[in-house]
Amino acid sequence: MNSDSELSSSVIRGVGSYLPEKNVDNIELSKRVDTSDEWITSRTGIKARRIAEKEQATSDLALEAASAALVDAGMSPRDIDLVVVATITPDMAFPSTACLLQDKLGIPKVCCFDIEAACSGFLYALDVADGMLSSNRYKCALVVGAEKLSSIMDWQDRTTCVLFGDGAGAAVLTNKGDGLKILGFKSGADGSNPKLLHQPSGGSLDPASQESLAGRGHFLKMNGREIFKSAVRVMERAAREILSEHGYKESDIDHVIPHQANARIVESLSQRLGIPLGKFYCNLDKYGNTSAASIPIALDEARRISVVQKGQLGLMVAFGAGLTWSAVLVRF
Ligand code: UT7
Repeated sequence: MNSDSELSSSVIRGVGSYLPEKNVDNIELSKRVDTSDEWITSRTGIKARRIAEKEQATSDLALEAASAALVDAGMSPRDIDLVVVATITPDMAFPSTACLLQDKLGIPKVCCFDIEAACSGFLYALDVADGMLSSNRYKCALVVGAEKLSSIMDWQDRTTCVLFGDGAGAAVLTNKGDGLKILGFKSGADGSNPKLLHQPSGGSLDPASQESLAGRGHFLKMNGREIFKSAVRVMERAAREILSEHGYKESDIDHVIPHQANARIVESLSQRLGIPLGKFYCNLDKYGNTSAASIPIALDEARRISVVQKGQLGLMVAFGAGLTWSAVLVRF
C-alpha cells in the first residue's frame, strides 16, 4: 500500500516557529558551569541555545509560533476550532497552556487542551488532532509544540543544563486542502522506567515543599547514557514499522526530520536505518534540544530554506521521556 491517495489523513496547511532572541553559546555557558565548548560539541553537536526572558512564558513562545503558522496557512484565529499544545513546561499546572494561548490569540471558544509526551509531544499532538479531524467534528486544528525548558533546568547540573533550549513551533491542520499531507502515524510508549528522564517533584507524588526545593527535585533529571541507547532503538523500530505498514522502503525517504537531541543519536539512527545522514535535517547546533518544539521548528526551517520540495516523502521521528516515541510519514 503506497498509493498516498488511498490514505485519508489530514493536511498541514501552514507551519511557523519562534525562538527567543537571547543566544547563549557554549563558551558563555562554560563561564557559568564546569563544562567546555569542546565537550559539548564533541558529545552532542550543540553549539548554542536560545533562552527566553524571565517574563516570557511558554504560552508567549507558542503565541509567536502559532501566529506565524496562521500567516503561512493564510488563515485567521477565527478559522480554528481545535487547539492542542504539546509541552512539559506549561505556564502553570492548570489551566492548560492551550487555553491561555486561545485567549492570547483571540481564538473562538473551542476545544483546547495540552498533551504531555515530552519530546514526542508534537508528533503525539498531530496524531490526536489528525484523529479528531478525521471524525469530521472538527475542521481546523492548531497544533503547537512549545517549551521554556530553561525554567526547569538545574544550572548546577552540567550533565543536563548544556543540552536544552527554549522555543516553539506550530502547524495548522485541516482534513483537506493543499499542503503537507500526513500519511500515517506510529506512536508508542514504555512507562516501565520513568526515572530515566523525569521531573521528580511538584506533582502529586512529591508536592512542592521545603524538602523538595532543598532536594532540587523541581528540576529535570536524566540518565543520559540509558536514554541515548533507548532513543536510537525505539526510533529505528518506529521508523521501520511505519515504512513497512505503508509499503515504503528506507530508500524511498527523501528527508528525515528527527527530534533534535544529539548529533550522535542522529548519526546512529542514520546508520541503523541505512538512510544517508545528508537526508536528516538538523539544526540542534543552533538551538539545542527544545523537546516538543524541536520537530516543528526544524520542519519550519527546512521548508523556509527550501530543503524539502513538494511531492517528496518525509519522515518525522521522535523519542522522549516516558519513554515515548512517534514516527510520522508525510508527503511534502
Ligand atoms: O530528548 C531526550 C533528551 N535526552 C537526550 O537526548 C539525552 C541522550 N543522551 C545523551 O545525549 C548523552 O548521553 C549525553 C550528551 C547526555 C552525555 O554524553 P555521554 O557520552 O553519554 O557522557 P556520559 O554521561 O557517559 O559522561 C561522560 C563524562 C562523565 O565524566 P567521567 O565520569 O567519565 O569522569 C561526566 O561527568 O563526561 C562528564 N560530563 C561532562 N563533562 C563536561 C557530563 N556532562 C558534562 C559536561 N561537561 N557538560
